[in-house]
Formats: sequence, structure tokens, C-alpha cells
Amino acid sequence: MEKVEFIYLSQEDVLDLGIPLKEVIELVELGLSEQGHGRVENPPKPGIHSKPDAFIHAMPAYYQKLGIGGLKWVSGYPSNRAGNLPQIAGLMIVNDMETGMPIAVMDCRWITAVRTAAVSAITAKYCAREGTETLGLVGCGVQGRMNLVGFKEVIPDLKEVRVFDISERAMQSIKEDYEVELGVEITACESVESAVNGMDIILTATQRLKEPLVKNEWFKPGCLGFGLEASRAWYGDAILKADKFITDSWDQTMYFYEHGAFPDGLPSLYAELGEVVAGKKPGRETQDERILAINIGLALEDVIVANRIYEVAIKRGGFETLSLMERSF
Ligand SMILES: NC(=O)c1ccc[n+]([C@@H]2O[C@H](COP(=O)([O-])OP(=O)(O)OC[C@H]3O[C@@H](n4cnc5c(N)ncnc54)[C@H](O)[C@@H]3O)[C@@H](O)[C@H]2O)c1
Repeated sequence: MEKVEFIYLSQEDVLDLGIPLKEVIELVELGLSEQGHGRVENPPKPGIHSKPDAFIHAMPAYYQKLGIGGLKWVSGYPSNRAGNLPQIAGLMIVNDMETGMPIAVMDCRWITAVRTAAVSAITAKYCAREGTETLGLVGCGVQGRMNLVGFKEVIPDLKEVRVFDISERAMQSIKEDYEVELGVEITACESVESAVNGMDIILTATQRLKEPLVKNEWFKPGCLGFGLEASRAWYGDAILKADKFITDSWDQTMYFYEHGAFPDGLPSLYAELGEVVAGKKPGRETQDERILAINIGLALEDVIVANRIYEVAIKRGGFETLSLMERSF
């Protein structure tokens, strides 16, 4: 009897496909442009919380014009770091938009890492100051590393990277792994201030903070700042006094605000990133403005990448397929 089947891809399968970050950036830029044109269904993510600092989020998205859709079911458990498990883990499902049938189930870790870096890279493409050469990075884990690679992709002139992490090993390994490969000078710093003060781009990618890290006075004119931990790593005055506040989702930003983020007040929105990418609002307009981007992470960014992974895997062939049901009607 004929079966309804879907393809299954482990993390290793996804990695083996070797989809380049450049392609991920192009895909996510297309996705954000579709969002900016109002052609994506991407409801705010609901979550469950089995521990005070942990979540499992359901993140669906549907592209009306491109005809693709799916769901990410992703967990974030900071305490996993003490054991032998990653903080972020989960599954993606890609669905056939004609029948609703699942056509692929895959690990979501690589997708989460690269699409987040792609969103930052796209923000930098539209909002970094002309002549940007320096980056201050706080947190050298999965996101710090990927974001560095993403920035270099869109800003080939990037030369100087200063990093700070509470883990010496994390700083050493980002230097060993990327200094030569990317052709940038990476300096491990002894404080947040020495890593970020006066840099063209500042990005924080840490976790579990008791207090913010980046002070307003280190966020100089012309700087483009990023906080990957929602508002947690940036002091309230830096957030509120930025000339432009950008996010990939204002709905999600307000939802986070209602649940305790932005304790000093919600900044006023300049633009959603999708509006900038779709050409509805300009990104950077002057060399001096301070732009802060707090991109929350959207299902539409995951789904467009997962769909490409599915297409590439089907074309290559040889991956495991699992049966959903017998076709018995
Ligand atoms: N916005 C998004 O779309 C999105 C997507 C994925 C992850 N994130 C967030 O990005 C952050 C980083 O995620 P990750 O996967 O890279 O985590 P990770 O655990 O791989 O790396 C975090 C790094 O931050 C360092 N760190 C922790 N506290 C620090 C401090 N006070 N000062 C300096 N360094 C510190 C750790 O030593 C570690 O190297 C998390 O907050 C995560 O929730 C956001």
C-alpha cells in the first residue's frame, strides 16, 4: 500500500548539505522582504515554561506568494550547559502548502544559528555606517561566532574585532578558528568596555545576565548596536536614547515588554527590519546616527531556510524517509 512519507534530517545531515551562509543571508533577506510587503503569516510565538529561565516555543510561518510554510519547535534551557546538552535545541517541520502534509522533519540547531547571524548581517547591510571596519563582540558562543562570520560576509572591509567573554576558552577559540580564516585581527579583551567602546558595530550574544553590560557612553555616534538577548544586555538609557530602534518584529518586542523585557521602558519603533529590506523605510541616513537593533528571531527566518534544506536534500537523495501513514482512503 502506498505510504504518506516525510524526509528526516539529523543535525549531521543538515550540516553535510553544506549550504553556504551567503545563501542563507540571501534567503532570509528575501523572507524579510516578503514580510515587509505583508505577504507572510507569522503569528507571535506561544511558549511553555517548565523552568523559570527556560522555554519551548512554537514558531509557525507561511509565505503566501512563495507557497512555503512550516514550524519550528525550539527549546532554550540555559542549565543544559552544565550537562552535556546544548542550550538551544529542537525540530523543524516543513509542510506541503497544498495538502498540509508534513514533508520534512529536521534538526533546527544549525538553522537557528545561521538564520540569526543572517538577520544581523542583513541589518548591518542596511544600517552599518559607511566605512565600517571594527566590531566589538560580547559573548563568543554559537551566536557570537556565527555573527562574526555573517558580518564579514556583508562587510568585507571588517578588520578589527575585539571580543569579551567570561570564558577565556571561548575567546581563545574564536581567535584560533576565525582570525586567519576571515582575515581579521581578533583581540581578547579584559572587560566589556574595552571590547565595545567606540566600535563601529557592537553585538552582545550572552545569556543569564544579572545586570546589563553595555553602557550608553560606549555606544558612540555612528555605531550600530545589536542585542541578541532581547533588551537584557543593554542599559535602558542606551536603548531609549538610540536615534533609531529597529527590530524584526514589533509584536514580539511588545510581547517581551509585557513579560518583563525593557524594564526602563519600551523604545519607540523606527522600523521593522522587513520594512527596511522591502524599501519602505531607509536604514541608515546619516553617518552619525546611533542605531540599535534588537531582533527577536522570527519563524519566517527559519522556515525559508528549512525549505531550502528540504529542496537540496530531495535533490541529493539518499536520506531517511519515515512513514506518517498508509494512504488508505
Ligand atoms: N534573537 C535571536 O534570534 C536569537 C537566536 C538564538 C539565540 N539568541 C540568544 O543569543 C544569546 C547567545 O546564544 P548562544 O547560542 O550563542 O549561547 P552560547 O551559550 O553558545 O554562548 C553564550 C556565550 O556568552 C558568554 N557569556 C555569558 N555571560 C556573559 C557575560 N556576562 N559577559 C560575557 N560573556 C558572557 C558565555 O561564556 C558563552 O560563551 C542567548 O541569549 C540566546 O537566547 C537569540
